[in-house]
Amino acid sequence: MTAADVITAWDQADPEAIHPLRRVSEDAYWESGRAQADMVATVIPDGAKVMDFGCGDGRVAIPMGALGYEVTAVDSSQRMLDRLTERAPDVTIAHTTADGIVGHLGRRRMDAVYALAVLIHHSYADCLHIIGRLRAATKLGGVLVLDWPVSETPGEADSWIGVTTWSPQQQADACARIGLEPVDSGLPWGVYRAVKVAG
Ligand SMILES: C[S@@+](CC[C@H](N)C(=O)[O-])C[C@H]1O[C@@H](n2cnc3c(N)ncnc32)[C@H](O)[C@@H]1O
Repeated sequence: MTAADVITAWDQADPEAIHPLRRVSEDAYWESGRAQADMVATVIPDGAKVMDFGCGDGRVAIPMGALGYEVTAVDSSQRMLDRLTERAPDVTIAHTTADGIVGHLGRRRMDAVYALAVLIHHSYADCLHIIGRLRAATKLGGVLVLDWPVSETPGEADSWIGVTTWSPQQQADACARIGLEPVDSGLPWGVYRAVKVAG
């Protein structure tokens, strides 16, 4: 699938598709976001300027704001952003893909960027492109939390709801090219520090 296919499918998706817990209850859905925000917060300094890339309707972005972070919530779907704003009018939003982020920020850069349940739906090439743009939006020394799963049997997603997985070597090569240094965190997602590309 191309990035454009994934973006269109998510824009038209039923809100229930965002997370399995939404089929259990709205409370369970929003509680999962609060729990994940608490986990993300363990690796990001208090009060940091953070970007939630592919924020959906704000499951994690809204509780991150409540924890005191200065959140910019980015999504390619205006429908998702409208639902976020309806629930939390004070959260800053940006309607763009990864390619529009640096233009949106101007000279500003983020202290931290996180992307949960977004990269997984993209092809290898599109995922690498997006991560490169997220790195470009992050200050040197800043933190990236990326839901970028490793598998012993890596493969690309075959639908907009599928999951692309990577080998450790693919990720190590990508990190070296993009300027990401893995950080030990104990979190279920990859955590990286933004570094200069060697050589
Ligand atoms: C599965 S939802 C996850 C939402 C949120 N991160 C969460 O964990 O609740 C995926 C979201 O990523 C957005 N998205 C997918 N591909 C994107 C892309 N290439 N650029 C920006 N947003 C994207 C979709 O519109 C959708 O809102």
